[in-house]
Amino acid sequence: MAESMQGLHRSHRCTEVNNSLVGQTVTVMGWVAKSRNKGGIIFVDLRDRSGILQVIFEDSKCGTECFEKAAKLRSEFVVAIEGTVNKREGAVNENLATGDIEIVASSLRILSEAETPPFPIEENSKTKEELRLKYRYLDLRRPDLQRNLIMKSKVATLARQFMAKEGFLEIETPMLTKSTPEGARDYLVPSRIHPGTFYALPQSPQLFKQLLMCSGYDRYFQIARCFRDEDLRADRQPEFTQMDMELSFVDVEDVIDVNERLLAKLFKDILNIEITLPIKRMTWIEAMNRFGSDKPDLRFGMELKDISELVKECGFGVFTGALTNGGSVRGINAKGQGAMPRKKIDALVEFAKTYGAKGLAYIAINEDGTYKSSFAKFMTEDEMKSICEALDGQAGDLLLFAADKNKVVWDTLGALRCHLAEMMDIIDKDVFEFVWITEFPLLEWSEEQGRYTAMHHPFTMPMEEDLAFIDTDPGKVRAKAYDIVLNGNEIGGGSVRIHQNDIQEKMFECLGFTKEQAYERFGFLLEAFKYGVPPHAGLAYGLDRLVMIMAKQESIRDVIAFPKVKDASCLMTNAPDVVDDAQLVELGIRITETEEI
Ligand code: AMO
Ligand code: AMP
Repeated sequence: MAESMQGLHRSHRCTEVNNSLVGQTVTVMGWVAKSRNKGGIIFVDLRDRSGILQVIFEDSKCGTECFEKAAKLRSEFVVAIEGTVNKREGAVNENLATGDIEIVASSLRILSEAETPPFPIEENSKTKEELRLKYRYLDLRRPDLQRNLIMKSKVATLARQFMAKEGFLEIETPMLTKSTPEGARDYLVPSRIHPGTFYALPQSPQLFKQLLMCSGYDRYFQIARCFRDEDLRADRQPEFTQMDMELSFVDVEDVIDVNERLLAKLFKDILNIEITLPIKRMTWIEAMNRFGSDKPDLRFGMELKDISELVKECGFGVFTGALTNGGSVRGINAKGQGAMPRKKIDALVEFAKTYGAKGLAYIAINEDGTYKSSFAKFMTEDEMKSICEALDGQAGDLLLFAADKNKVVWDTLGALRCHLAEMMDIIDKDVFEFVWITEFPLLEWSEEQGRYTAMHHPFTMPMEEDLAFIDTDPGKVRAKAYDIVLNGNEIGGGSVRIHQNDIQEKMFECLGFTKEQAYERFGFLLEAFKYGVPPHAGLAYGLDRLVMIMAKQESIRDVIAFPKVKDASCLMTNAPDVVDDAQLVELGIRITETEEI
């Protein structure tokens, strides 16, 4: 039977009980992690969110009634225990924070009993994630997940404190709003009062934070929930949290400065890691050319080398064809992988194809300096030699090449570089490598839509020195946009915004919006700008992503209490779900039959 709390007060969390309390009486409460009955003595590992504490019950010390009750304890029972802190004799457990002490129980209350959980509640669980997510409330009892969520809470608290000190105001923006321009699909919410119309859940607070600048709040900050209906990956969730900010009367340097100090504070206070300031910067084009990615992982080398010049007149049609199509030929050197079996190389080719490459050419240099290659027969000895030299190919190396349009070559080799680094185990997992990526292209050509789209969003300011090309060569215009990248992940991004009407109109024109269309979507912002708008800029972090990396987790799900799975459903609540017909009628919504697939 479940007993009550009446008359009891928890004095300490489990790991707050320490050496300095030896001899004192404490009251601890939590879940039974383990209990072992050794005859005259029962050992109980008590767990709460702080960790584990060992409690012992001895007939002679706690009395027969209490001892018999303790004998009934099973895993996950919730208990309150009163007892004396005792120094452990001999058997110190180095793995526990409380390993050198134990509680000698004097009384026990069973606050609730528990059924056997569907999987063991333990660190580094081997249980399948699907099952753990179905019983997420149990999964969340595991120490590793608890540590992650505690860290996330600390990051949020510290960020709030830091931002407040820097003069930022925390201001909420609406969840029920109009579509925002971040480029993913919106989640829509039907309106009951205005049948046939919909709110959109915000993809970010972008428009509202810009409006707040118009209203004079000059430094805004918010830990804001954002919603994006896009394909999920290990670092993406349909709802996620941004640490979002906007500043008035600033340019790129001001935003970077405050954010470098914020990051330094978070890493110092939480991980005791000093970030060397200023953080490295790299232009977008340099990142693409050297790493094939706008979020380069700088924990290892294996940089891309452009060999277009060396092969422009060679006899290999794949290479020359790519070059005549305006593309390039580039390669990377997987050091020491020259003996890779053919099967594994074929697997790399298949991997490359998932990034749009038509193939992957290779040179495997043998230990004696001879080589195997998929394209040597089309090349002269000299050409092969100069290619090897360009990539610093030495005995035992594997050189891999892609030839295509620049974007395909970058994407393929950029991904291959990371894939190989994992395979070769050359990434130091204890290192945090930050880099700012700057000077992004303002626009990117969408083959699908046959028009330019904004690389960041339509309010991003072009670089002043490139404004001249906006009519003649819009693809060449760079933006005052910046991303902060950590260990190959984009943890945040932002830009200086356009606050000049003429530039904004030009931007809409480039994006193929008529004035009417622009007004229909963003009229309230454009109107607001007519009444006095300060120059402004901002940035937003993906809080979940940042904590995922700080906590050295592979998946964003491990830092979110109740995450969704790949198909955007929640395995615990079964959301999304059908609703009552009455609710639909009220909303004026009729479901059309969809064919069973
Ligand atoms: P952006 O779209 O780059 O910029 O988003 C900012 C950061 O949010 C994180 N993020 C995500 N995290 C988890 N799941 C997702 N689906 C997801 N999508 C994005 C990333 C990203 O860097 N309004 C602008 C910011 C600005 O210009 O100030 C914006 O939203 O870490
Ligand atoms: P093929 O002549 O098509 O058999 O290709 C010869 C070699 O070139 C094979 O190893 C292919 O994988 C490789 N290859 C094909 N297309 C490309 C490409 N676009 N870039 C790099 N290598 C390629």
